[in-house]
Amino acid sequence: MTTNTRATFGSKIGVILATVGCAVGLGNIWRFPYMVGSNGGAAFLLIYVICILLLGLPVMITEFFIGRRSRRNAAGAFKVMAPGTKWSFIGYNGVLAAFLILGFYSVVAGWTLEYIMQAFSGSLSGKTAADFAVEFETFSSGIIRPIGWTIAFIALTHLIIISGVKSGIERASKVMMPVLFFILVALCIRSVTLPDATEGLKFLFHPDFEKITSSVVLSAMGQAFFSLSIGMGCLITYASYFGKETNLQTTALQVTLLDTLVAILAGIMIFPAVFSFHIAPTAGPELVFITLPNVFEQLPLGWLWSFIFFVLLALAALTSTISLHEVATAYVHEEYHMSRKKAAWFVSIGVLVLAVISSLSFGILKEYTIFGLTFFDALDYLTAKIMLPLGGMFICIYVGTRVDRKILKEELTNKSTIPFHFFNTYAFFMKYISPIAIGIIFLNELGIIKWIKGLL
Ligand code: PFF
Repeated sequence: MTTNTRATFGSKIGVILATVGCAVGLGNIWRFPYMVGSNGGAAFLLIYVICILLLGLPVMITEFFIGRRSRRNAAGAFKVMAPGTKWSFIGYNGVLAAFLILGFYSVVAGWTLEYIMQAFSGSLSGKTAADFAVEFETFSSGIIRPIGWTIAFIALTHLIIISGVKSGIERASKVMMPVLFFILVALCIRSVTLPDATEGLKFLFHPDFEKITSSVVLSAMGQAFFSLSIGMGCLITYASYFGKETNLQTTALQVTLLDTLVAILAGIMIFPAVFSFHIAPTAGPELVFITLPNVFEQLPLGWLWSFIFFVLLALAALTSTISLHEVATAYVHEEYHMSRKKAAWFVSIGVLVLAVISSLSFGILKEYTIFGLTFFDALDYLTAKIMLPLGGMFICIYVGTRVDRKILKEELTNKSTIPFHFFNTYAFFMKYISPIAIGIIFLNELGIIKWIKGLL
């Protein structure tokens, strides 16, 4: 422990696991495979990895810099670092994004609870791939069960937030994360040994460059930001709890690598099975929920595997919902001078309203769309593809143009006690490459670049 007055994470491994806990969640195991599936497979993966390295890593290091330097929450950090300026809108964008993400994320988190119950009661056994698809459709388009589980998940997050069992979570992540990793590896092995598994591996790793379109690139960038939890200040808040000896560069690298590894393992676990059981890779949000039960069916004691897997998935989701809830609660608590408890209630009730509408958008509200997207898809699109990348872009622009390089280097090298061999490369990427690339991807997707070309 450091002797700092502000709370810090207890140990080096605690820092990494808590941050990995925030990054690794449904984004890796649920969202990544269905994004790969609906965006052309390996071509998407390739662009995703490029986005992680060129955009994700520099933005993560930059968020760590802001968090530890200011020792404040997402919105407060900019008030300390750039008082009296408009830069704090980056923090507000993050708080709003956290709130909106919770509005659809809790629905999927609720689904994991339903599957835990089903695994435990044995009702996942003895079914065909077609049965699983029909059952998911019936369940998710219903009213009472999906909403009930969503409420249960929000209540669980709420309880943890108000009782502040941070140390419990830090301790739990130490066991949970390695076990989740072990189960993923075991399921990958089962999946790649299924008949026709190579088709799935080819889909995941053999890129067809013709599939790369502006929308695929935007989706890959959005997934990179979503999965790494960047662009919205969540990591600013976490880094504000880092000790002064924490190596920000290696922590960012380790979190990025682990997060990407988990996503790729999830891909290896899902796609061979998708092809083996003749499920459409473009199935969308239900992909993981209709594919995995088939894999468990092929294992001895399948119900036990599925039970453990969904418990871990729910816990991985919980470490992420806690971090999202914390961003919004801390903001309401500090800015509106409300007690922490009241602030948490305020956030939970707001999230509940969004989550109920999101859940119903799989059933009775399916026909009500916003720009052709259901409410659930619209929240996902707005946050992952617009708010997080824009947040990331402005974080880079702020640090690149307003922060003295000496201060940046001092913080990132812990006052010159550790080297940063690639500092100039990092600074160049952060100041020019990352914001310009994000800007181009946006303009391209909006069709503005095509329009300009037409003028020339
Ligand atoms: N990165 C989390 C996941 O992959 O599930 C989701 C998330 C958590 C996004 C926290 C953003 C965030 F601030």
